[in-house]
Amino acid sequence: MLMKFELQMRANSAKLPARNAKAPLCALSLIHISGTMSLPFFSKLRNKKAHLKLVQQELQKVRDEIARQTEDFEPYVRDYMRQVCRGQGKMLRPGLVLLTAAATGGIRNEHITFAALLEMIHMASLIHDDVLDKADTRRDQPTPNSLWGNELAVLLGDTMLAQAIVMGTEIGGSKFCRKMAVAMRDLCQGEVEQSTRLWDMDMSRAEYYEVIRKKTATLFAVAMSGAAYLQGLDDEMVEHLNRMGTLLGISYQIYDDCLDLTGTDESAGKTLGTDAEKGKLTLPIFFLMESSSEDVADFVRGAIERHEEIDYSALRHTDAFSEAIKLSVDEGLARNEEAREVLWLLPDTPARKALAEMTYRLDEMLRDCCG
Ligand code: FPP
Ligand code: MG
Repeated sequence: MLMKFELQMRANSAKLPARNAKAPLCALSLIHISGTMSLPFFSKLRNKKAHLKLVQQELQKVRDEIARQTEDFEPYVRDYMRQVCRGQGKMLRPGLVLLTAAATGGIRNEHITFAALLEMIHMASLIHDDVLDKADTRRDQPTPNSLWGNELAVLLGDTMLAQAIVMGTEIGGSKFCRKMAVAMRDLCQGEVEQSTRLWDMDMSRAEYYEVIRKKTATLFAVAMSGAAYLQGLDDEMVEHLNRMGTLLGISYQIYDDCLDLTGTDESAGKTLGTDAEKGKLTLPIFFLMESSSEDVADFVRGAIERHEEIDYSALRHTDAFSEAIKLSVDEGLARNEEAREVLWLLPDTPARKALAEMTYRLDEMLRDCCG
């Protein structure tokens, strides 16, 4: 079964533009003629992890690689790292790497290492994020800051990040390493901007989008574009996949921002409500501040102006709250729709279908926020 799949991938890879070869314009022009074309032949997801089924063996290799890297740390770091890696994440970024690789010619060893290092960068960023957000729980586990304090948590995040960079040098040349470094820089810059704009009523919606593009979408973008780059695809294809990853990343952060207001710690497996507590202006909060229900808009604006946590206990039952979540969800859905357009540029393979299913799964997660 796997062999047949691999052969098919290789056969399809011949149709993709390779780096240093001239990209066939017909493929690129599809994006212009397709407009807002939907993809009726991509089936909807039947179960939550169906999109990752195709690459489940390779995903296990990614988990094994992360575990192997953990064992490679000095003994005094290893035990902490084992604990850090205990929680199971959604493996979205590795999933995107593997499916993009499978959809563009096949998964190679470099893709496994790349997927593992991206998940490690993501884990490092979450360790730091939980310090900033004073969060106690992540992936159903106590966070490093709650277990060992902020100082050690920051150092462990740094150590994991550094190891991810070492791994990058083992699979790609200087252009690839630069891509990684730029992504990490943007991720950090997004977080700096967010930290300096807390309670900031002058922050615009466009600035919010720029923050989430940097802090979340860069890793989604580099997952897809990095996988394509390692495959040797040309710059234009790499850029299209970068755009698809960016759109999905923005949509994912909108989902996460809605979840912060609508979910429970138990079902999310992490500490929620930290956005409102810290004065992070997220998309649903923008919609609440602009609500046609003046009482609600004044209540939310007043709390932010006074740097007070917004008390959602009463707001949650209002039409204005449901409307703000719905409008935010629609923004995420629109980005997923746009992301799916890029799939027309890829050959018709099970991996392309799985990528489409991944976007439909994100649609579903967004819609679930509406209750
Ligand atoms: C989660 O956001 C956090 C991020 C998307 C990025 C955090 C990045 C840093 C702290 C910079 C340091 C980066 C590295 C690479 C070490 P969230 O708080 O909105 O989501 P949550 O609900 O999952 O906490
Ligand atoms: Mg957080």
